[in-house]
Amino acid sequence: QDKAGRLMDPKELVGSELSFITDNLARLLESGHPMLNTVSRYYFSASGKHIRPLLVMLVAQASSVGTKRQGRTSILVDSQTEHIDYSLIDRSASLDLSSDRESQRSNRLIKDATGGGHGGRPYSPHVTDGLTILPTHRRLAEITEMIHTSSLLHDDVIDHAETRRGLPAVQKRFGNKMAIFAGDFLLARASMALARLRDPEVIEIMASVLCDLVDGEFKQLKNLEDEGAPMARPDERAFAYYLEKTYLKTGSLIAKSCRSSAILSNSTDDLVEAAYIYGRNLGIAFQLIDDLLDFTVSEEQLGKPVGADLELGLATAPVLYAWQEYAELGPLVARKFAEPGDVARAWEMVHGSQGIARTKALAQHYMDRACEALALFPPSSAREALERVALSVLTRTK
Ligand code: FPP
Ligand code: MG
Ligand code: MG
Repeated sequence: QDKAGRLMDPKELVGSELSFITDNLARLLESGHPMLNTVSRYYFSASGKHIRPLLVMLVAQASSVGTKRQGRTSILVDSQTEHIDYSLIDRSASLDLSSDRESQRSNRLIKDATGGGHGGRPYSPHVTDGLTILPTHRRLAEITEMIHTSSLLHDDVIDHAETRRGLPAVQKRFGNKMAIFAGDFLLARASMALARLRDPEVIEIMASVLCDLVDGEFKQLKNLEDEGAPMARPDERAFAYYLEKTYLKTGSLIAKSCRSSAILSNSTDDLVEAAYIYGRNLGIAFQLIDDLLDFTVSEEQLGKPVGADLELGLATAPVLYAWQEYAELGPLVARKFAEPGDVARAWEMVHGSQGIARTKALAQHYMDRACEALALFPPSSAREALERVALSVLTRTK
């Protein structure tokens, strides 16, 4: 049995929590407009990997053991089972916080959308072996998935995607306007849910993720050399630029939701930082593998088009490494593979080089850093599960 097989299975620890996410999100996305409901829920209808919510839950548990942060009030939890009505129709009810005025902590504010006669999980913390998931963690998990999906709805318009999660891409099915509206709506509901956590530090951190996403996409639009002299070979700056972009577009959401999860556990500053470092490194490894899979697996396996990055003019890690071996890739990168035959030639050079192996080795490096950060957490089954998630990122095929 490999190492991962000997570690705690994340599904065993938090599978029941994750199984509520899709239903809960559907409730959070009630709008009063049937079309908006359909489009904003569209990508949730195909099973995503739910890696972000999974990490939020596991970090919640892993950071719930040990000493607490000073200066933060401990989180109160009650057993109410009312649910927030976020619908546009009932706007006054969803926005009126006056009845909550007495309550400073968000776990009292969150009236779990699946609770109270809806057949969902009860509004109470989930405690296994002293590892705790609070209602605020559940809501954070949903917020991360909403932000992620919002970015995908926008991304598929920008990238002219054909498919996602084995479905026709959102704008192919519903058109650009609907895709953008639905993406904006998801972000709006995510913002409301975030505000309802009543934790200024978490609100600020998660809001900064939105800036990072846009920053990352903007960096990706431009090659580093668009402004400077053309490079003969990719230098250190080219890799640094690519990795910064990678952190911003993918790592930031993962890193900052891990950080926020530890904050909501009222964990120590050291663990909050460790959660961030874990998420940051795992996020970068995750995107490196994404960039690698674009060259190595079939469209059926991936559920979205392969070779898409070259078509979009993007020089990801496999291309940068291939370019170190084949100087003739330089002009193709500079013109974003725009001339006939460029994409096919670049594809051949990547496959004829060490590009894919080196990308995998780089992902391994980030994965190792992620696991090192886990060593700061007290031993627990949740910490083991986080290690297993990190290891599984490297072997994923979709
Ligand atoms: C997928 O990357 C896209 C992202 C990781 C981020 C997209 C972010 C934006 C469009 C900025 C706007 C953000 C918000 C929150 C509205 P990819 O295209 O490399 O991956 P893919 O192969 O899955 O399409
Ligand atoms: Mg994109
Ligand atoms: Mg895309």
